Amino acid sequence: MISLVDVTKVFPGMDHPAVDGLSLDIAAGEFVVLVGPSGCGKTTTLKMINRIIEPSSGEIWVDGVAATETPAFELRRGIGYVIQQIGLFPHRTIAENIGTVPELLGWDRPRIAERIEDLVVRVGLDPAMLGRYPSELSGGQQQRVGVARALAADPPVLLLDEPFGAVDPIVRFQLQEEFLRLQEELSKTVVFVTHDIDEALRMGDRIAILNVGGILEQFDTPENILSGPASEFVADFIGGERGLKRLGLRTVGSVDLTRGPVVDVRSDVETARDAMAQYGTEWVALLDGDRLLGWVWGEDLDGQLTDLEPHSFWVELDPESTLRKALNAVVMTRSRVAVVVEDGIYRGMLGLETIAGEVDQ
Ligand SMILES: Nc1ncnc2c1ncn2[C@@H]1O[C@H](COP(=O)(O)OP(=O)(O)OP(=O)(O)O)[C@@H](O)[C@H]1O
Ligand SMILES: [Mg+2]
Repeated sequence: MISLVDVTKVFPGMDHPAVDGLSLDIAAGEFVVLVGPSGCGKTTTLKMINRIIEPSSGEIWVDGVAATETPAFELRRGIGYVIQQIGLFPHRTIAENIGTVPELLGWDRPRIAERIEDLVVRVGLDPAMLGRYPSELSGGQQQRVGVARALAADPPVLLLDEPFGAVDPIVRFQLQEEFLRLQEELSKTVVFVTHDIDEALRMGDRIAILNVGGILEQFDTPENILSGPASEFVADFIGGERGLKRLGLRTVGSVDLTRGPVVDVRSDVETARDAMAQYGTEWVALLDGDRLLGWVWGEDLDGQLTDLEPHSFWVELDPESTLRKALNAVVMTRSRVAVVVEDGIYRGMLGLETIAGEVDQ
């Protein structure tokens, strides 16, 4: 869908290129993240894709057409763009901001209004905000408007330059989550810029890591980058905790869970001891039917299991939880396991060995 072939940009008066011999092939529906330190040429690369900046040499193809030979206005019709710092028009209302491109394309009013109403809900904004001005919105809300505006004419390609840059980590996490959900529905071809490696690992199908001077250090999946950084620069850039970051990419549902030492609360003490012996633990978990009640120490087993007060596992995971979250669950409970529950039903458990084994591979 997007192809950069040996693209170089040298700005007038600069002795070093801002982007140097960059080649990238991006498939339709793929989510590619450009990441790298400040000044490494991320914004310049995006702006070359939609012809705000002309490359000094090399070729850029968008949907089979040479970008350099397509009139800029025509090219941009198929490309939604969120510029760095959002860049909403301050004197236009939220509705007018979102409707900018459809209006330029000459859509009739009812169609524009319908599109705005649809988008505002999709990006999680209250339709009551449509009449306000950008300065009357929070940073996170403005970023949602930026995304809505880029999506307005339903372009197949989206270029997003640090779209969630100016918000706190919690809002940022929410925006990432919502955008991923939206992308699942829309399947746009996305080029997303960030300087936050964790955001890149979370969002990207593939990540292009750029060094200063616009030099491509590695272009690969998050998993491959974490398991095999191509250079010292990449290893430094992804930082410590590589193992933890890899665990953050896998879900609990992708590994084999064990049943664990688990018995129904109506069982007798002997059955509970057998379960402990089978798994070599000093504790046993109690179930009421499919529902997990908690766990008890073997030494407290006496009389009826129903008379015991089970300890909580504290963190219950579901199949969508990451292995990183599972590791957290393991260290949060004295039983040293993470339990998995789906819709209230006990599914199984996993311990440190299983989690560590997933990073070994
Ligand atoms: N219009 C311009 N004229 C001259 N130099 C420019 C121009 N735009 C960018 N540059 C230079 O090109 C290099 C790359 O800039 P660019 O904006 O692409 O970086 P970036 O990776 O987006 O950085 P950041 O993470 O800070 O946004 C920088 O050294 C910058 O100073
Ligand atoms: Mg930039």
